[in-house]
Amino acid sequence: MQGHPNTELAHDLGTAPVGVRNRLRTGAAEVEHKLVGRLRGKPDTPPLPVALAALQAFQPLNPNNAGIHRLGDVGANNPWRSTRQLEAEAVAETVELLGENRSRCSGYLNSGSTEGNITAMWWARKRATSQGRLLRVIAPATVHYSVTKAVDLLGLDGALKLLPVDHNLQVSPAALDTALAESRRERRSVLVIATAITTATGTIDALSPIEEILDRHPDVPSGIHLDAAIGGLLVPFTEGWQPWSERPSLLSVTVDWHKLAGVPYSAGMLVFRSGAEAYGQPVAMISTGLDETVLGSRSGATAGAVWATLRSLGADGLTHRARRCVALRNSLLESLKDDLALEVHAPPASNVAAIRLSASDPAVGRLAAQLEPSSVYPSSVAGHPDDVYFPAFCMPHNTEDEVGRFVEDVRSALNAPRRKVS
Ligand SMILES: Cc1ncc(COP(=O)(O)O)c(C=O)c1O
Repeated sequence: MQGHPNTELAHDLGTAPVGVRNRLRTGAAEVEHKLVGRLRGKPDTPPLPVALAALQAFQPLNPNNAGIHRLGDVGANNPWRSTRQLEAEAVAETVELLGENRSRCSGYLNSGSTEGNITAMWWARKRATSQGRLLRVIAPATVHYSVTKAVDLLGLDGALKLLPVDHNLQVSPAALDTALAESRRERRSVLVIATAITTATGTIDALSPIEEILDRHPDVPSGIHLDAAIGGLLVPFTEGWQPWSERPSLLSVTVDWHKLAGVPYSAGMLVFRSGAEAYGQPVAMISTGLDETVLGSRSGATAGAVWATLRSLGADGLTHRARRCVALRNSLLESLKDDLALEVHAPPASNVAAIRLSASDPAVGRLAAQLEPSSVYPSSVAGHPDDVYFPAFCMPHNTEDEVGRFVEDVRSALNAPRRKVS
C-alpha cells in the first residue's frame, strides 16, 4: 500500500549507509505487507500522523517521564515538566472518557496492559498485606495470559482462581460466589480481574453481575481491575457502557493507546481511583520524588503522542473511530452468519467476530491454513475443549472491501458456494 507512514519513514533515512537503508526498507515492506490491507487476528492499527509528529517533536529531547504525574504537582524545576504535564492531562482526560471525575483518579503511561495488569495485582497484594491478609485474584478463564505472568513474577503462587465460563463466555455467578465465600473463610482480600474485549474471542465480561456478587460479601475486602487493553477506547463509546463513577467497586482500568487509538507502541495507560496506589512502600528516586510504578525510566515522548492524539481526535473523533469499528464488525458478522451459516461469538460492543467451530470439524485445519497469513490463529477457551475460535478484528483502518475479502477467504476454506453477484 502506498503512502503508509512506516514506509515513508523508512525511506527517509538520510545519511544512513546504503546497506542499512536497504535492509530497513525491505524490513518495513515486509511488515507493511503483513499489516495492511486485510482484517487480522490482532488489534494492530497504523499510527496516526499526529501521534508520529508528536513523537518526532519530543524524541530528539529524550524526555524521561518516570513515575506517576498528577495535575498540578509537576515540579517547576523539572526539565521534563512539559511532558509530565501532558501525561497528567492525558490521564485526566482518559478518566473522563471512562465516565469518572478526574479529581477522584490518577494514572500513568506505561509499556502496555501487561504492565497495567502486573501493577494492579502488585498494588492489590500491598493492600492485602497492609490489612494482614493474603490476596486472592479471581478471573474468568478467558483472562489474558499476562495475569498468569504476573502471578509468577509476584510470587502469588496459588492465589489465582480462574473461574469457568458458559457458552457465552460469561463467568459463572455461582462459581464467583463460592470463590468469595472461600476467600472470606481464608481471610483473604480479593481482586477480580474482568476484561473488556479479550484477545482470543473478543469477549466483554459483564461487570454488573460481578459487582452484585462482591456486594453480597461486604466482609471480604474486594475490588475490580478492568483489563480494557483493547476495549478501553471502544466500549465506553458504545451503548451500554455504564460510567465508571457508577461503579464503586471498579478500582482501576488499563487501556492501551497503542491498540485502537493509533499511537505507536509502547503507549499503555493505567488509571485508578486515587489511593489504590498509595499502599506499601514507594521507591525513592534521585530527583523526582516517589515512584509507585513497575518500570523506571519511560519516554516522555509517548506522553506527547497520547496527548496530541487525544486532543486532535477529541471525544467525538474517538467515538467515531470506535463506532466505525463496531459497524464494520457488524457487517462481517452478518456475512459470516447469514451467508455462511457460521456460529460467531460477537458481543454487541466489540470489534471482534470470533468464528466458533467444533474442534472435530474438518474445516478447522483448512480455515487455520487459509487465515494464517492474516495472523488469525485458532484459539480455545479453558473448559470448552470442543470449541475452536477464529477471532477477526475490525480496526479503524479496515474497510468494507477488506471485510469482503476476509469473508471470501473463509468461504473458500469452508468450500462454501461463492456469493451470487446480483
Ligand atoms: C486483553 C489484553 N490484556 C492485556 C494485553 C497485554 O497488552 P500489552 O501487549 O500492551 O502489554 C493484551 C494484548 O493484546 C490484551 O489483549
